[in-house]
Amino acid sequence: MKITSAEFVVSNSDVAKCPKSGLPEYAFIGRSNVGKSSLINMLTGRKSLAKTSGKPGKTQLINHFLINKNWHLVDLPGYGYARVSKTAKKTFQKFITEYFSKRLQMVCAFVLVDIRHKPQNIDLDFMQWLGENGIPFCIIFTKADKLKPMAIEKHVEDYKTILLETWEDMPNYFITSSSKSIGKDDVLHYIDELNNS
Ligand code: GTP
Ligand code: MG
Repeated sequence: MKITSAEFVVSNSDVAKCPKSGLPEYAFIGRSNVGKSSLINMLTGRKSLAKTSGKPGKTQLINHFLINKNWHLVDLPGYGYARVSKTAKKTFQKFITEYFSKRLQMVCAFVLVDIRHKPQNIDLDFMQWLGENGIPFCIIFTKADKLKPMAIEKHVEDYKTILLETWEDMPNYFITSSSKSIGKDDVLHYIDELNNS
């Protein structure tokens, strides 16, 4: 899919105020600093559409971007600041869970994880929560430019091993790098297929 237009629409802390158009949307979620905003810029080919930063916690609101005038990309704040607690509900900011519970037009969540790290409980817990709530998601491994191909393979295998302990199948996943534009066509093609299904 070619991106012909990408525009910022609105930032919100209140899920009820998000766009009411009902256009299909795809949300980027993951730990602070994992590269959500950078990925949105890479996919849209717009360098500073979404604000990025080396400091975790840059994105604080739900940001909607209108793509090709007919679907939304959504940049969400990172999770991982809240102190670890027993239930996902307490761990993830309330409005992130509210976003996923209320936005019925959300077609697929992309859960971003940094390819360099071993599977982390906070990400696994979040995927578990999505699964329990029937919310479709894929995994996007980020920052693939930081590892050699063999190491990438190893880290993906580690993820598969852990996920297959609780899941019947490995969720769809993509290996990406925003700085090297790796994975762009695969992710856009996937969104295109979902938009047309
Ligand atoms: P918050 O909004 O704070 O939750 O962060 P975020 O997930 O939106 O991350 P952001 O896109 O702001 O990127 C965080 C840092 O990681 C920035 O310094 C980026 O330049 C860097 N970064 C993001 N993607 C990549 C990548 O693919 N490769 C490398 N090497 N660095 C990346
Ligand atoms: Mg961000």
